[in-house]
Parts: sequence; C-alpha cells; structure tokens
Amino acid sequence: MDKLLRITIDGRSCEVPQGITVAAALAHAGSGITRHSVDATPRAPFCGMGICQECRVTVDGRAHNLACQTLCGQGMIISTAAASAPLAGAIAAGSQRSASLYFDVLIIGAGPAGLAAAQIAAGGGEHVGVIDDNPQAGGQIWRHGPKAPAPKKAQALLQSLSHMSNVSLMHNTRVVQQLAPDCLLLEGLQHSCVVRFRRLILATGARERLLPFPGWTLPGVTGAGGLQALIKGGMPVAGQRIVIAGSGPLLFAAAATAQAHGATVVAIIEQSPPAALARFLASLCYTPGKLAQAAWLRFGLRGTPYLLDSHVISASGQANLEQIQVRHGTRQITLACDRLACGYGLLPNLRMAQALQCAQDGPAIRVDALQRTSLPNVFAAGECTGIGGMELSFIEGQIAAYAALGNEPAARALFKQRAKWQRFAARLAEHFSLSSALRNLPDADTLICRCEDISYAAVTAHSDWRNAKLHTRCGMGPCQGQICGTAAGFCLGWPDPAIRAPFTPSRIGTLMQTCDTLAAAPEQSNDGVMSC
Ligand SMILES: Cc1cc2nc3c(=O)[nH]c(=O)nc-3n(C[C@H](O)[C@H](O)[C@H](O)COP(=O)(O)OP(=O)(O)OC[C@H]3O[C@@H](n4cnc5c(N)ncnc54)[C@H](O)[C@@H]3O)c2cc1C
Ligand code: FES
Repeated sequence: MDKLLRITIDGRSCEVPQGITVAAALAHAGSGITRHSVDATPRAPFCGMGICQECRVTVDGRAHNLACQTLCGQGMIISTAAASAPLAGAIAAGSQRSASLYFDVLIIGAGPAGLAAAQIAAGGGEHVGVIDDNPQAGGQIWRHGPKAPAPKKAQALLQSLSHMSNVSLMHNTRVVQQLAPDCLLLEGLQHSCVVRFRRLILATGARERLLPFPGWTLPGVTGAGGLQALIKGGMPVAGQRIVIAGSGPLLFAAAATAQAHGATVVAIIEQSPPAALARFLASLCYTPGKLAQAAWLRFGLRGTPYLLDSHVISASGQANLEQIQVRHGTRQITLACDRLACGYGLLPNLRMAQALQCAQDGPAIRVDALQRTSLPNVFAAGECTGIGGMELSFIEGQIAAYAALGNEPAARALFKQRAKWQRFAARLAEHFSLSSALRNLPDADTLICRCEDISYAAVTAHSDWRNAKLHTRCGMGPCQGQICGTAAGFCLGWPDPAIRAPFTPSRIGTLMQTCDTLAAAPEQSNDGVMSC
C-alpha cells in the first residue's frame, strides 16, 4: 500500500502517493493542467525534464516551480495559477543564501557520466561536488520514482557515493550564471549559492528533439522520453490509450514503460523506412546485449502495431487530445488516443558548454581523447559530447575523471571499451537520420513558440532568428528558446540562439548575489553535504 501525503491543489485538499512529482500529483488529482498560455489555452507538462517550462506552478507561495522536477512534500500547497500569480510572490520568497562552496572537482549532471566521474574523482581523494536539476540523481536513463526503481547498477553506484564523505550531491540545483572562469552561481528550490572549483566536468547529457506540428500544444501530447520521465515521476497512465511516435530506440523504451504502468500502447510510429531499420537491426549483432534488449522489448510489445516510414501530422481534441492523424507511407490514417508521446531522437544538452564558450563539433561539445574540452581544466563526458547511450556515457565519465586527476594511464586503459560504444553510437546516428518531410509539419497557425504563443507564419515572416525574436518575442519566454529555437533550427535551418545569463529563469534574490559575490573576497568551505 502506498504511503500517502496530504497536499492542497488549487484550494482542494487531496491525498497522493509519497515520492511522486508535483506534475504527477496534478494528474492524480484531476486534469494534469499546469497553466494557461498567453491566449488562455490550457497546457500540461510536455518535455518531462525541465526544458519546456510548460509545467510551472506555484508551490508554497513560490511561483514558477517546475512541477516535473519538484517532489511533493507533506502539506504542500500547489496553485496552477502560476502564470498569472503576482511576480511579487517569487520575489518575496527570495533566495536564502548559503556560504560559498569550493570543490576540487565540480560535476554538472548526475546521470551515468556524472556519477561515474564522481566515483573515480572521489576515489582519488578529491572533494567532489555534483549538481543536477532533477530532484534525484540518476539522469535520464536511471531516473527513478516510487514505482520505477533504478536498475541495480545505478543503485549500487548511488549507495557507494552516499558513503563517500568527500562527495556532495546537490539535487534540484541549476547553474544560473558564470561569475568567473572558476566560479558559478547556483540556485536550488529555496537557496542560492556560489561555487568555486579547480576542475569542471560537464556531464549535462541530452534532451529530446521535440518538433512542432498542428496540435502539439494540446494537453496529452508530450515527448516520448518525456512521457517516460513523467511516468517514472509517478504520473498515472493505467487504462489510457497511448501512441508513441517519432524516431529511434527510445520509442520502444517509452512504450515499455507506459505498458508496464497499465497503459494500452495503440501503436509505435517510426519515421525511418523499413530498409534503414533492417540495417540497424543487423548492425546490433556487434553488440549482442543491445540485440537481446531490442528483441525483449519487441516481444513485450508484440501485440502493438509498429508503423515504419510513418509520422504524426496533427493532433486534435477539445480540451485534451482525442485523436491524431498519421502519414503511413502514402496513406493517411486516424488513431484515437488519450496521449501522444512524440520525440525525434536526442540532442546533446549544450547550454552550459555554450555559456562557458567551449568549442563545439557540430551539435556536440568538442573533446579530445582524454575528454578535455577547448578550455583549460574543463572536461566533458556523456551525451553532451554526442549521443551514444548509457554505456558510452559511463566510460567517458570515468575517462574524464581520470584525466582530471592527472591519471592518464588509467584513462587510456578505457579507450578500447569506449571505441566499441562509439561505433554503436555511429550506427545509431546513421540509421535513424530524420526525413526532410518532417520540416514541413507545422502549418501557418501552428504555435512554434509555446511560451509566447507565436505562430509559425509570424516567425517565418522574418529572415533569421534574431529578427523574428525582435519582432515577435519568439524565444523570449521562460524556456529561453530551447524548444522553439531547436524547432526553428530544424525546420528553417537557423543557427541555435545565443545563450545569455541568467541561463535559466531565476529568483531576483539569487541574481542579487551576483553583485555581492563579485564585490567580496572568495570564501571557501567544504563542510558537509549541502543542498541548495
Ligand atoms: C527523456 C529521456 C529519456 C531517456 N530514456 C532512456 C531509456 O529509457 N533507455 C535508454 O537506453 N536511454 C534513454 N535515454 C538516453 C539517455 O540520455 C542516455 O542513455 C544516458 O542517460 C546518458 O547519460 P548522461 O550521463 O550522458 O546524461 P543524462 O542521463 O542525460 O544526465 C545528465 C543530467 O544532467 C542534468 N543537467 C543538464 N544540464 C544541467 C544544468 N545546467 N544544471 C544542472 N543539471 C543539469 C540533467 O537534468 C540530467 O539529470 C533517455 C534520454 C532522455 C532525454
Ligand atoms: S514538463 Fe516540466 S519543464 Fe517541461
């Protein structure tokens, strides 16, 4: 029997299972709606991982909390009127300041890469700080919740780190600004702090590529990995009809999670053609573990239609999603469903690297064989350096940490293993490349900027991102262009928008710490585990 918490949602008292996110609690208690947009249409969580900002609500008087990244607490008071709540609420709540922190090695991201790096660096006797914006460590693949335990490897690693007194894991913590080359401003749920470091390891992972199509803002439409993340956070889907769509192996992982939690997966819709998929499956013989995993997932979903060379062209419904239209080869079909989870593969999460001005190789952070970036004492590992899966991320995290410790022989000893998974990554990229037909999915009225409700036609009336932004406000909402900028990049070929501080929506109390810190001499402290 689940242990229950009593919380209040929009003035109504209710009980929800302990350990679930606020996004999940809203779905348990009712519609799951988190806010109303500029044009007053209801919105619900979309990305499930802290990017889109569709899930912002007021929690215990603090406005603009991300429901997908906040765990429910006993007695919590949640209001979904966040978008119209007076900003004064956020200012009044302010940011309690913690003493400055200092780490020998600071790691951004607590997924497989960041945790592997932390274990090696801490084992070398360094004081290690790991920050992550999620409520619990694990990153995307090891995300866990009350009914979705982390795999044994992740549990063992987390337990080993929790016993190391020289490791501080800081959850629900984001980087707001770089104050100096070795100094960052961080913000947690209630606190802010300044952190200094000697070496930095970026392990910021990947995010989903979420592309616009008519109806993509309807409640019930999410990313594919986004749906998986929301379910792991406790969102109920039992009895619901779900279509999983987009591209890549993540579709099967998301479908398996949905099915395991009681949903009916109506169909899995893959944009790649059958020939590309056949070549990918044949290539899995080089990684028998992955072949077995693919076969096991397909067997578990054997009753579910797998439509290749297909993509969602639109979603429709009154207040919520009711049906989708799908292009299947040359035909168009309609599928009735309660949820659509649609994601077109993964993209390296580059915001931190771009903010620090690390050199890039295409859409990934440029690293050398020792995972060193173009900046001194800054390393990068995992999917922020290229999409490759958990195994590659883990090994790269270890190599980066050995390199940061100056133990080059230990790093080199892992090169062979890394090369095997790099070859797997190359095959993945080759076989799931996206069809150019997807560029034409949005119609003139499709909202490309979900934060500011800006239509595709309004944006395409301008020659580039900067002009579109200046004239329409696209990209100026709280997601800071992470959704619409990526969409414009794919559909229109426009370069990524530049990053400016603050890198994430932040409290004024946090930003005020910038001036104080720059004026003051650095304090240093390593005492105890600190949670921002
Ligand atoms: C939504 C989603 C679901 C996925 N599910 C699966 C799956 O089921 N099976 C599978 O094989 N692969 C899955 N993947 C692929 C998965 O990303 C990799 O296999 C693996 O998790 C990569 O590990 P990593 O350590 O490189 O990055 P991640 O696991 O992505 O970890 C990076 C962490 O850094 C955090 N972070 C990023 N930027 C900041 C910042 N500025 N401040 C603080 N924290 C930050 C992120 O929130 C995240 O927790 C999924 C990917 C996504 C995006
Ligand atoms: S659903 Fe929470 S930020 Fe996107």
